This record gives sequence, structure tokens and C-alpha cells, in this order.
Amino acid sequence: MTALPWNLLPDTAAVDGDGHLVIGGCDTVRLAAEHGTPLFVYDEAHIRNRCREAVAAFGPGAVYASKAFLCRAMARLAHEEGMAIDVSTGGELHVCLEAGVPAERLVFHGNNKSRNELRRALEVGVGRIIVDSFDELDRLQSLHEPGRRPPRILVRVTPGVEAHTHRFVSTGQDDSKFGFTVSSGAATRAIEEASSSSAVDLVGIHAHIGSQVFRVESFAEALRVVADFAKPFDLPELSIGGGLGVAYVEGESAPSITEWAQAMKDAAQALGVTAQLAAEPGRAIVAQAAITLYTVGTIKQLPGIRTYVAVDGGMSDNPRPILYGSGYETFVPARVNDHRHRVIRLVGKHCESGDVLVLEGRVPEALEVGDFIATPVTGAYGHSMGSNYNKVLRPAVVFVSDGEARLVVRRESFDDLLITDLG
Ligand SMILES: Cc1ncc(COP(=O)(O)O)c(C=O)c1O
Repeated sequence: MTALPWNLLPDTAAVDGDGHLVIGGCDTVRLAAEHGTPLFVYDEAHIRNRCREAVAAFGPGAVYASKAFLCRAMARLAHEEGMAIDVSTGGELHVCLEAGVPAERLVFHGNNKSRNELRRALEVGVGRIIVDSFDELDRLQSLHEPGRRPPRILVRVTPGVEAHTHRFVSTGQDDSKFGFTVSSGAATRAIEEASSSSAVDLVGIHAHIGSQVFRVESFAEALRVVADFAKPFDLPELSIGGGLGVAYVEGESAPSITEWAQAMKDAAQALGVTAQLAAEPGRAIVAQAAITLYTVGTIKQLPGIRTYVAVDGGMSDNPRPILYGSGYETFVPARVNDHRHRVIRLVGKHCESGDVLVLEGRVPEALEVGDFIATPVTGAYGHSMGSNYNKVLRPAVVFVSDGEARLVVRRESFDDLLITDLG
């Protein structure tokens, strides 16, 4: 209980002779000293391993959900490993195109794609558009240019399945802003409308029940509803979306991508589904690939109550605790094998009492101001959901591999804060 659960660390995690945590052959303590903190450290081999696992499991249907973490280096890496990439805004689309990912390898999502976003997607020729509403179908219709190949689309449906996850990341139930409801008949109308339109080429059906889902049965249940619904239309593709959960804290365990895929393939076979299965893991690809390194700035002891340890980041680099009440572990990378007897509350530097990174973290007894402290499993929805709240600078990101550290996102500077400020 006092040792750091090793399964939460990236694949290449090791300990050097000084007791320091090493990732990708790089000493994380040195990385913190050289690059400053907060710092995201991503294990490139870990990401590649998960991408390969997804491609082995889902073949051409393997799609990386870039909302989990995106920069050009990440887009290139997922593309190199054979994954298509899910983008859900014009911004994500832009970053992927700028990374050199061919447009046909992009899958365009979003419940409110603007005319401009759709126009760009059509101009560059994205591989798939996941259509989410009748308004979007109308927009595609009106943007259609005779002579241009109509975009291949999937219709996103809400199967009416509860995902047993936080309500903010649960999307499969009927009462959702996403997609066409199966039970009301809206999904059938959408398929009929899309099939009869010359502006789109309907190739499949898509469903995403939510995120951080641990039970493969929830996915299988959704697949049953969607397969039942899809059968009469006999379309060549069926996407089960993303949402596979990952372990964040001691005692949690999650199915692997391979186990998830196997359960889906078994369910599909039992249901007589012949369509190509696609899946869009985001978190399962990158969450455990990274740790965040911070520097301890103040330690406030409240005798008989608790100890607050404040670091140089917080809700601006990891809003998940404040959004979803998510839990994390804490550890000291310079003494990664030391027992963590001391219970602390890890907080950020923002002007919010809710700016808590870890409600109950554990650290070795002797923690001092100036020490580096880290949280594992921060590779998904940390950097990508980050903000400049309180004009705190967004952290740098390094990719580590074979003893080399590559700065892929530099730390923001104060001048960056003024780039869009016209004075
Ligand atoms: C449509 C869709 N696909 C994939 C994902 C990725 O989910 P996760 O990162 O949980 O795998 C999401 C997340 O919200 C989503 O909305």
C-alpha cells in the first residue's frame, strides 16, 4: 500500500542506481532540472506499443482519439504506427494536417461542426465524417459541389446504454447532446436521409457510449443495440467509438486494448455482424504513457487535520480532479522505491480552493520544499484539457525514447500570453 503501484507507470519505467525513476532511458529528475516544471514526460515506446496493439486488434478500424492528447509529434507517431486519427474540431484537424497526416487518415467528429469546419474537411478530403445531427446533414448538403466526390460518412447513434462512468463522460444514453437517438426513430430517419442524399456516401454507423469505461459488457451491450439497429441497412462499417478505461490509482485494473477488441469481436460474431469494426481509443493509448513532474513550493501543516503540499501547476495542467473528482497517486521521482508513509493533499497554485490535484496522496516521510514530486497516468486529458487560468503558463512536453529526450511542446512564456491580446 505504501509502495508506488508500478503498473501505473509507463512501459519503460525503471530505477537507476540512485533510486531515480527512469523513463525511456532518461532520468526524470534530470529532465525536471533541465526543462523546468511542471513537465509532461511521455514514454514514446509506450505510445507506440499501445498503437501497435490497437492496430493488431482492430486492423484498418484502429483510430486514435486525438482529444486525449495532441501535438504534431503525437499525430505523426500515431500515423506512423498505422492508426487513423479522430479529430473533433477544426483545431484538431489543423494540427493533424500540419503534422503531415494525410487527410484521408482523419475521422472528423463533433456535435456542432460549423460550416467552415465542414468546408475545410471537404476541401482537404477527410477520410470519414461522423455525422451527428440533421443540421449537419443539411450543411453537408448545402456545401456539396457537383463533381466532387461526396464524403464518406458514418451516422452517430445513441444506443440508450448507460456506461457506468461519470455522467459528464457518459454519452450513450438517450438524454445526450450527441448523435441520433435509436429509440425515438431519429437514427432511422438519419440513415434514410443520408442514404438518399447524393451529397454524402453513407458507409457506416457509429456509437460511443462514454469514457473511462471499465466493463467490456457495457460495450458489448451497446454493440448489441447498434448491431440490431444496423442489420437492415447492411453497411460496411461499424464503429464502437472509444472509452476504454485505464487504471489511475492503486487497486484499479482495466481490460487491455486486446481484451476489449476480443470481447467486441466475439460479440460481433455472435450477433452476425459482418461490418468492419472500428474503435477510437484515446485514453487507453496515452494515459499511462506520461507522468507530470512538479516542484514542491510550499508545505502547509495543519496539525491534526492534514498537510497541504502546493506545486507549481494544478488545475491548469490537470483539470480532471476538479471536473470529475478523478484520483491520482503521488510519488517522489528521486526516491521512487521509497515507501510512501506520509499522507498529503497535493494542491496547485491557482486561486481556487478546488484546485486540488490529489486529495490523498502518499509520499516518503522526508518531503521538502524544492523536491520534485510527480503524478503518474497524466498522459490523457491533462495537457489537452489544460488552460491558462490565472495566466499560468502551459507546461512543456518531452518525448523520451532510448535515452534521448525530445522537446515536442515548449513551455509557454509570459510573452505568449500577449499573442492574442491586442492591447
Ligand atoms: C466519439 C469519441 N470517440 C473517442 C473518444 C475517446 O475516448 P477515450 O479517450 O475515453 O478512449 C471520445 C471521447 O470523448 C469520443 O467522444
